[in-house]
Amino acid sequence: MKIYVPMDSAAKALGADEVAAAIAAEAASRGLDIDLIRNGTRGMIWLEPLVEIDRGAGREGYGPVTAADVPALLDGTLDSLGPVENIPFFARQTRLTFARCGVTDPLSLSDYEANGGLAGLRRAAAMSGAEIVEEVTRSGLRGRGGAGFPTGIKWNTVLQAQADQKYIVCNADEGDSGTFADRMIMEGDPFCLIEGMAIAGLAVGATKGYVYLRSEYPDAIRVMQEAVRIARANGILGAGILASGRSFDMEIRTGAGAYVCGEETSLLNSLEGKRGVVRAKPPLPALEGFRGRPTVVNNVISLATVPVILEKGADHYADFGLGRSRGTIPVQIAGNVKYGGLFETAFGMPLGELVLDIAGGTASGRPVKAVQVGGPLGAYMPCGKFETPFGYEEFDGAGGLIGHAGIVVFDDSADMLQMARFAMEFCAVESCGKCTPCRIGAVRGVETIDRIAAGDPAAVPLLTDLCETMTDGSLCALGGFTPYPVMSALTHFPDDFATAKEAAE
Ligand SMILES: Cc1cc2nc3c(=O)[nH]c(=O)nc-3n(C[C@H](O)[C@H](O)[C@H](O)COP(=O)(O)O)c2cc1C
Ligand code: SF4
Repeated sequence: MKIYVPMDSAAKALGADEVAAAIAAEAASRGLDIDLIRNGTRGMIWLEPLVEIDRGAGREGYGPVTAADVPALLDGTLDSLGPVENIPFFARQTRLTFARCGVTDPLSLSDYEANGGLAGLRRAAAMSGAEIVEEVTRSGLRGRGGAGFPTGIKWNTVLQAQADQKYIVCNADEGDSGTFADRMIMEGDPFCLIEGMAIAGLAVGATKGYVYLRSEYPDAIRVMQEAVRIARANGILGAGILASGRSFDMEIRTGAGAYVCGEETSLLNSLEGKRGVVRAKPPLPALEGFRGRPTVVNNVISLATVPVILEKGADHYADFGLGRSRGTIPVQIAGNVKYGGLFETAFGMPLGELVLDIAGGTASGRPVKAVQVGGPLGAYMPCGKFETPFGYEEFDGAGGLIGHAGIVVFDDSADMLQMARFAMEFCAVESCGKCTPCRIGAVRGVETIDRIAAGDPAAVPLLTDLCETMTDGSLCALGGFTPYPVMSALTHFPDDFATAKEAAE
C-alpha cells in the first residue's frame, strides 16, 4: 500500500508533517507494510493535508486529514474524495507545466523520468542553440513573471550576443501578494526547473545559472539545493550534460526579502552582492546582465514550462490559449474564496468563471466586491469586468494586468479607499529610492489619500495628477504601476471615497 502525504510547505503549515508521523506510527503499531511517500501538493489548498492512498487500484484522496483521523484512514472507514483527478477543481485544469506536481516524489529522479521528465532536455541536447530558440519562439511562451515578454525573443538576443561568458538567472523572488506558483513547483517538481534552465543554457550558450530564491521559502531552498546535487551526481548538470558535449551548471542563491529585488535589474545587483536598486535600461540584461555579461533573466514558471514545450513540441503548446496569450497559465486563487489554490488552465477563461465557479465565490458567503489580479501593482477589478478573458491583451484592454497570475478576492466589506492607501503605502515602503516620482510620490500619495479620507474634495484631482506623474516618470514598474490599484479603486468604487468624505463631515 502506497500512502502519499504532501511535503509542500502550505500542506505542512496545515499539519501534513503531523499526519505523516501519525501514519508511520499507526502503521508500525499495526504491523502494516506501507510505502509512505512525501509528494508535492496537487494545489487544492483547502483540502490540505490531502492524503492519497493507492491500494493497488489507483490513488484515492482524503482531506483535509488530521492526525486523529489516521486510525479511520487506515481502517478504510474515513470518507473518501475518490480519485483526486475527478475532483472538479482538478478535473477542469489543463496541466502542462504542473503535470507532475503532486503526483511524484519531488526528489526522485526515477519518478521524474517515468513521468516524462528529461525528454525535453534529451531532445534539446541534439539540437543547435538556434533550433531550441526557434522552438520556444514558435510556442508563443511569454514571461510569466509579470511583463509577458516573449521568451524566445529574449533568448535570441542572448544567443546572438558575443561574450566569453553568458548566464541564466532564474527569478524566484515571487513577491506578488497571493502568489505561490513558483514555490509550489520548486517544492513539488524541482527537476522541472533545473531541466528548463539547462535547456535555456544549451539554447543561448550559457554555461552557468543561478536561482535567486527568496529567503522566506526555506523549504523550496532546501528542496532545490538537494535536487541540484542529485542532478549533478546523475550527469544532468555539469560537464557534458546528458553526454551532449555541452556543459551547464547552476547554484541556488538566497535573496534577503525586498519586493523590488524581484525587478530583474535590482535582482542582478543583489545577486552581485550589491544593494538591490534598479538599474536604468538600456543596457538590457540580455546584453549586459549579471557581471556585465549577456544574461537570460526568466521567471520560475517561464523556465519550468520549457521542458514540456521541448518534449511535446511548440505546436502542441501553442494549440492552447487565446490570441497572443498561448499555452496555459497557473492561476493562483487566494483571498476571500471557498476554494483557494492553483488552477492551471489554457488562457481564455473569463475572470468571473474563475472567481465564482472555480473558486466557489467568497468564503464569507457575502457578495464579491473586487478582485485584485497581478499582485500589489495590479488593478482592482469590479464584478462588471468579470467577462474579461484571462489573456495579456484582454486584461490590458480592461485596464488591468495579469502579472504573475495571482488573484486575490475581496467581499463587500472591503473598504477600497483603504486598499488604495495600502497600495501607496506599500510602494513607499518598498521603493528602492532611485527615482523621485516613486520615492517621494508614494509618500505624498498616502498623505493625499488621508486628506480624501478626512473629507477634502480638492485632494481627489491631486491624487489623479500624482498618479499620472508616477505612471509617466517612474524608472520601473513599482512606481509606474502603483497607480493601477489606486486609480482602479477610485474609478470603480467612487462611493467608498465619497463615504469617507461624508463620514468626515
Ligand atoms: C517591482 C517589481 C517586482 C518584480 N518581482 C518579480 C518577481 O518576484 N518574480 C518575477 O519573476 N518577476 C518579477 N518582476 C518582473 C521582472 O522584472 C522580469 O520582468 C522577469 O523576471 C522576467 O522574466 P519573465 O520574462 O520570465 O517573466 C518584477 C518587476 C518589478 C518591476
Ligand atoms: S520606480 Fe521606485 S522602485 Fe522603481 S526605480 Fe524608481 S524608486 Fe526604485
